[in-house]
Amino acid sequence: MKTFVPKFVWFDGKFVKDTEANVSVMTHAIHYGTSVFEGLRGYWNSKNLYIFRLYDHIKRFRNSGKVYSISLKFTDKQIADAITGLCRKNNVRESCYIRPFYFVGRYGINLHVTEKSPTHAAVVMFPFGDLFNKNGISAGISSWRRIHDTSTPPLAKMGGNYLNSILATQECKRNGYDEAVLLDQLGNISEAPGENIFMLRDEKLITPPTSSSALEGITKNSVMEIARDLGYKTVEREIPRTEIYFSDEVFLTGTAAEITPIISIDGKKIGTGKVGKITQQIRQTYADITIGRNKKYSHWITPVY
Ligand SMILES: Cc1ncc(COP(=O)(O)O)c(C=O)c1O
Repeated sequence: MKTFVPKFVWFDGKFVKDTEANVSVMTHAIHYGTSVFEGLRGYWNSKNLYIFRLYDHIKRFRNSGKVYSISLKFTDKQIADAITGLCRKNNVRESCYIRPFYFVGRYGINLHVTEKSPTHAAVVMFPFGDLFNKNGISAGISSWRRIHDTSTPPLAKMGGNYLNSILATQECKRNGYDEAVLLDQLGNISEAPGENIFMLRDEKLITPPTSSSALEGITKNSVMEIARDLGYKTVEREIPRTEIYFSDEVFLTGTAAEITPIISIDGKKIGTGKVGKITQQIRQTYADITIGRNKKYSHWITPVY
C-alpha cells in the first residue's frame, strides 16, 4: 500500500507544488531533447530512508550536461540537499524513485547551445517498487542498434537518447519479450534500453565496456565491486551476440531494474532457465547494502532523516 503522495517537487531552488512548477511551450528541451536526467532510489528500512550513491549520481548528472554545454546552475551540495530535502518535505517513509533533471529553457530555435543558455533544474519523486519480475525475464535482441559516441553520445544521460531506447522497447514488446537488448554499431552486445547487462561464464562476470555504447552505470559499478569482494573475477570486454547464448547466467543492472535476472534470450534458455545462484548471491548482497545492513558499504548510502 502506498503511503505517500508526492505533493511537492523541487524547481529552480524552491520546494513547490508540482502544478506550480511550470515552463513555457517555447522550452528548448521540448523541441530538441536538450535535457539531462538522473534516476536514483531511496530505500526505506523501516527506520530511515537511504539514498543510494547520491554523490555518484550527481557527478554523472553534471558530466552529462558538460557534453552539450548545458549548465547545471546549482552546486553538488545544493542538488544533494534538494534531493534529501524533497524526501523530507514529502515525508517519504517508503522506498521511492527520485528523478533530478535540468534542461534548456526558452531559447527559441537556436541550436547554438552554450553554457550561457537559460536552464531550469528540477527534482521529482514517487513511490516505487520492483520494475521487473524478480524471478527472471525474457529478452530479445533488438534490430535497432544502440546510439554511438560518434553521433549521440550514450555516456551522456540525455532525455533525447531515450528515443533509441523507446524504439527497442516497442519492438521487443511487439515480439512478446519483457525487455530488449541492443547491439552496438559493431554488432556486439551493448546494453538494454535502461540497464547495463552482465553475463556469467565459468564463474567469471563479463560486461561490455563503455566503448560498446554502454552507460557508466552506477549499479554496474556497484555489482563489479560486490562481485570482486565475493571472490568472483570480473572483466569488461566486448561480447559478441552469439556468446551470450552460451552463458550460465545473465542479468541486468540499473537503478530502476536493480539486479534483474534474464532467463531467456531470443527464446533460448539461459543456463538452467531459472535465476542463477551467483545472480542471487550478488542481488542479496546489493539489497542488504541499500538498506544499511552491510557496514562495509555504508559510504554508498546517505540517510535522509
Ligand atoms: C541506458 C541506460 N543504461 C544503463 C543504466 C543503468 O545505470 P544506473 O545503474 O546508474 O542506474 C541506465 C539507467 O540509468 C540507463 O538509462
